[in-house]
Amino acid sequence: MNSKTFFAAALTIVIAATAGTANANADGAKVFKKKCGVCHGFEKHKMGPSLAGIIGRKAGTSDFKKYKAFKGGSDIVWDEKNLDAWITNQKDFLKAKGIKKKSSMKAKIKKEEDRKAIIAYLKGK
Ligand code: HEC
Repeated sequence: MNSKTFFAAALTIVIAATAGTANANADGAKVFKKKCGVCHGFEKHKMGPSLAGIIGRKAGTSDFKKYKAFKGGSDIVWDEKNLDAWITNQKDFLKAKGIKKKSSMKAKIKKEEDRKAIIAYLKGK
């Protein structure tokens, strides 16, 4: 192997390794644990409500006692579109839905692939 082919081969390995990392970052379970897990679980309520069966559920309708923005329940259904908007920016979401109350949830997921991975993960919960 001359040095040119060697570097080409080395570069290919680096690119392959980096692509692998990017996929791992978009692993829903991991992203969820990192960005949501402090406040949410699936067995019991933590600082935020349990997210078991959240897809298709109406906002504020679990027996969590500390809802603020969604206190008293709401007609907002947690489908993919609403979830995506909610985890992008809580303030903008509430404003768009005409909810004047504030939420204590703070989690802005900037990367679309991370949001998608989280939502895909929630579907199985
Ligand atoms: C700092 C704590 C905190 C973090 C981090 C957090 N949440 Fe929340 N979350 C809350 C609280 C508190 C509520 C209750 C909202 C309210 O009524 O004001 C909530 C509500 C929700 C709801 C609505 C639940 C329902 O019963 O209607 C969903 C869905 C949700 N969070 C998803 C997520 C996801 C996904 C993440 C990660 C990207 C996340 N949250 C990160 C605290 C948090």
